[in-house]
Amino acid sequence: TFRIAVFASGEGSNFQALAEAANTDTLGGAKIALLVCDKPSAPVVRRAEQLGIPAYVFKPKDYDSREAYEREIVMRLEELQVDLIVLAGYMRLLTPVIVHQYRGRLINIHPSLLPAFPGKDAIGQALAYGVKLSGVTVHFVDEGMDTGPIIAQRAIDIVSGETAESFAQAVHGIERELYPTVVSWFAQGFVRLEGREVTVTQADTKDYR
Ligand code: GAR
Repeated sequence: TFRIAVFASGEGSNFQALAEAANTDTLGGAKIALLVCDKPSAPVVRRAEQLGIPAYVFKPKDYDSREAYEREIVMRLEELQVDLIVLAGYMRLLTPVIVHQYRGRLINIHPSLLPAFPGKDAIGQALAYGVKLSGVTVHFVDEGMDTGPIIAQRAIDIVSGETAESFAQAVHGIERELYPTVVSWFAQGFVRLEGREVTVTQADTKDYR
């Protein structure tokens, strides 16, 4: 089996969507081997419990450096022979300890059409700027903040009278579909990264670029 680890810090709606896709066999045969969470009180930890998915929960403050807890995480990923790291609302920059070891096997979802609105609160940033079109991006992770090679994007219109709530809801609806789809491409071996060039073969990608 193709084994993924999901890293999340918060609500976990993407984690939930991935778990449900795995359970209904629409994740390309992938299985969630581990949740990694940096916030013991996050709702995503309870979701993992309910779903019977093992979780590694830690407090960054308990470690001397980011590298120190990332080395601990890598040990666990290796134990479980994880094939792909899937960041889903993991609100922490990764160091080269993880980024180098998992190059080409480490992806993130971000609620904007990158390279617009990287970083925190992309939804709020897009609304404040007044763009008429935004969306969701799935991309490989590199050392930068939301700068890695793009795998798939979906656009969302921002209509007049759009509120933070209605727009966030639209974003989450798209994410729930897009992320399991992209993970299923990985599980089926459809995605390749060479330098900064991303190739997706065989999959039906017409809605995602
Ligand atoms: C998602 O909308 C994700 O795109 C975003 O955090 C949310 C997590 O929701 N990620 C980022 O902003 C990363 N820079 P969830 O915990 O319900 O999946």
